[in-house]
Amino acid sequence: MAQQTWLVTGASRGIGLEMVRALRARGDSVIATVRSEAAAQVVGALGARVERLDVSDMQSISTLGRALAGVPIDVLCNNAGISSESKQLSTLSSADLYRVMMVNAIAPVLVSQAVLPNLRLAGGGKRAVAHISSQLGSITNNSGGSSYGYRASKAALNQFGRCMANELKGEGIAVGMIHPGWVRTDMGGPEAPLDPKQSAAMVIAVIDNLTVQTTGRFWNYDGSNLPW
Ligand SMILES: NC(=O)c1ccc[n+]([C@@H]2O[C@H](COP(=O)([O-])OP(=O)(O)OC[C@H]3O[C@@H](n4cnc5c(N)ncnc54)[C@H](OP(=O)(O)O)[C@@H]3O)[C@@H](O)[C@H]2O)c1
Repeated sequence: MAQQTWLVTGASRGIGLEMVRALRARGDSVIATVRSEAAAQVVGALGARVERLDVSDMQSISTLGRALAGVPIDVLCNNAGISSESKQLSTLSSADLYRVMMVNAIAPVLVSQAVLPNLRLAGGGKRAVAHISSQLGSITNNSGGSSYGYRASKAALNQFGRCMANELKGEGIAVGMIHPGWVRTDMGGPEAPLDPKQSAAMVIAVIDNLTVQTTGRFWNYDGSNLPW
């Protein structure tokens, strides 16, 4: 595959950091977004261009858009995400619901909007937007209840992604929503079966295979489709 330029959000740790490491190892250019100076040092040492981005801050998204003006980007991966404290009806809070919907669902759309000129600039070859979703966003598979905020945010992300897929198909930009597996990160916890390196490799493989013919689908990390 020809060398590409990827933008990965939430690259400070977990799956995002391992994606940056794997992409750099195979020779792709990477723009990695982080929030802290310490994380900037880590991803910078991997040879990534580092940009600061807090996806919950509209100013920060605008600043990123301006910083990237004129830079062609082939693949945008909206990976940054948070879990939610809103797990039961009796204890959920509006502040937590707003926060998780903002970071996990609304921000990926606004980051995509900011980066769209860069995807358009890339032209020619394969271009894609990958939203890192979760199987917990599947309404069909929700037999467990709980995790109101997180589940709803990922379901909303899937719907936003499907809208983007329909709109961008004509321009040759593929969109996919991807469950990265249950992964041993700060979010996934120590009991998770996949390590972040394994997950990152499988997520990258799924993104490599995104096409406008298969745009708008909900993918499992193994390349199978998940139900909405
Ligand atoms: N781990 C799992 O089992 C699992 C399962 C399904 C889906 N996912 C999804 O996979 C993605 C990555 O998760 P992970 O397990 O790697 O999580 P993680 O280790 O907790 O890392 C989360 C990343 O998101 C960034 N982030 C959080 N809030 C942000 C904000 N407001 N602005 C910018 N960046 C922000 C964090 O940056 P800071 O370091 O600055 O906080 C960090 O880089 C998420 O979308 C998650 O929902 C994970």
